[in-house]
Amino acid sequence: MTDPRWDPGQYSRFEVERDRAVLDLMLRLPPDLSPREIWDLGCGTGQHAAILRRRHPEASVHGLDSSIDMLEQARAADPLIDWRQGDIADWTPETPPDLILANASLQWLPDHQTLLSRLAGSLAPGGVLAVQMPMAFETRHHSILRAVAAEGPWASTTAPVRPLQPLLTMQQTYDLLSSVCDEIDLWSTTYLHVLTGEDAVLEWMKGTALRPYLTILEATAWTEAFLSTLASRLSDAFEQRADGTTLLPFPRLFLIARRRRS
Ligand SMILES: C[S@@+](CC[C@H](N)C(=O)[O-])C[C@H]1O[C@@H](n2cnc3c(N)ncnc32)[C@H](O)[C@@H]1O
Repeated sequence: MTDPRWDPGQYSRFEVERDRAVLDLMLRLPPDLSPREIWDLGCGTGQHAAILRRRHPEASVHGLDSSIDMLEQARAADPLIDWRQGDIADWTPETPPDLILANASLQWLPDHQTLLSRLAGSLAPGGVLAVQMPMAFETRHHSILRAVAAEGPWASTTAPVRPLQPLLTMQQTYDLLSSVCDEIDLWSTTYLHVLTGEDAVLEWMKGTALRPYLTILEATAWTEAFLSTLASRLSDAFEQRADGTTLLPFPRLFLIARRRRS
């Protein structure tokens, strides 16, 4: 299927909630890390690579993303970063990185056994891999999305979309990284996002999980019916509260792993 088309405006609507996780991840970076070569894989609109460049002004900072639309905003955010369009699946750095950040991007790629080993294996000695991924598969809103996509008259159109898959367990992740890394920190957190506005969970999903579905439905007449069915199922499951808010519990997995120095 064609690559999902990202919408930087829709994605940024929930910037405060989405940024919380990457800031929590960055807080756990080893304090003695003084990187010269930094990559942000799946950098999106580029604000996290820009934070890293400000934090490490001596470093070469690169941001990779497959979406031209996201990269256009990134370039505007910080022209001093080396922004590149490309697929994380094909990425090989010219120089071994001292820091790879991948926030909310790797969940879109298959075969995490191979992917995480490859990323950790590409690090310079003492380099750090820092990853945050939503544990989306287990959530109620993703289970509703999978059901709605599979049930309606649009089902044959949306069938090629590969829904987000369960992540590796923390133990599996530890085992596969421990052959090349010696400081491994894995944890999960469930954030309770307090969303505002009508159809808040649908609007949240329009920025990320729905991108492949909206892209594939674009050329059909089903988009409106698909979205209104999904909106109604989501609002039954996530009631708007008396104060107008909607609560969205969202579990996320965090990983920091440091490549052995020898
Ligand atoms: C949910 S956004 C996260 C963006 C950014 N890291 C952030 O935290 O704001 C996911 C990003 O990953 C990018 N992406 C998804 N799959 C990718 C791939 N295979 N190669 C490169 N970028 C990818 C998308 O284009 C999108 O910009």
